[in-house]
Amino acid sequence: MVTHQALSGSTDEEFLQRMVQTYGERFGEDFWACFTEHVAPFLPARPVIIDLGCGPGLLLRDLGERYPQATLYGYDVTPAMIAHGQQLTSTGARPTLALHDVGTQPLPQAAGTVHLVTMTSVLHVVDEPLRVLTEIRRVLVPGGVFLLHDWIRMPLKTYLERRRDSMGEDETASLRRGFRLFPVHCKYTPEDWQWLLARAGFTIQYQTQLRPTHEMFVATPA
Ligand SMILES: C[S@@+](CC[C@H](N)C(=O)[O-])C[C@H]1O[C@@H](n2cnc3c(N)ncnc32)[C@H](O)[C@@H]1O
Repeated sequence: MVTHQALSGSTDEEFLQRMVQTYGERFGEDFWACFTEHVAPFLPARPVIIDLGCGPGLLLRDLGERYPQATLYGYDVTPAMIAHGQQLTSTGARPTLALHDVGTQPLPQAAGTVHLVTMTSVLHVVDEPLRVLTEIRRVLVPGGVFLLHDWIRMPLKTYLERRRDSMGEDETASLRRGFRLFPVHCKYTPEDWQWLLARAGFTIQYQTQLRPTHEMFVATPA
């Protein structure tokens, strides 16, 4: 597996800090409005939730505050992300966080025991996404939700301009990282994601773009 850090030339600590700093933009009011309308109706009062590639653990912290009786799990392959999540304070349910490579390891949960699996900006880096999707489908209860939010293909010019404008990097660094990351971030079209979800046995209940760079899918086992 080629990591984002290796491609971008960032250290794990720099990657972690970027994920922490941009969390509020990525999971803002529009995200929670969408969650409330399209995901929450599928969940019981005591949901079991997994965040795959959970990064700094901030989404799980906020889910734990919304669902204080939830059982939460977060898995990530980067030790600095898990360490950050483990020292967060929260007034809600506390997640179990563990180092775990979702691309190569099965999920620890038994079949049909999870109400929600979330995955944000992770599946595009996994070499064999169908294996991961099959594993997600295995652990979901009937009527459970897979919330996929991931990069979509865009023209090179658009991608490079967005990076330069949003990352605050100088032109040289922006171009160097941009050319390395373009084939990784811009790998799948929305239609490719639809096809992958259908192929893995999911029905898409809702689909939207909260940002022009990402597509969000609310999917349930077919
Ligand atoms: C762009 S970050 C997104 C983090 C988090 N989902 C968020 O949106 O704040 C991608 C995360 O996926 C993790 N990741 C990448 N490949 C992974 C894998 N095979 N298994 C588990 N985590 C992985 C990275 O370590 C990183 O924390």
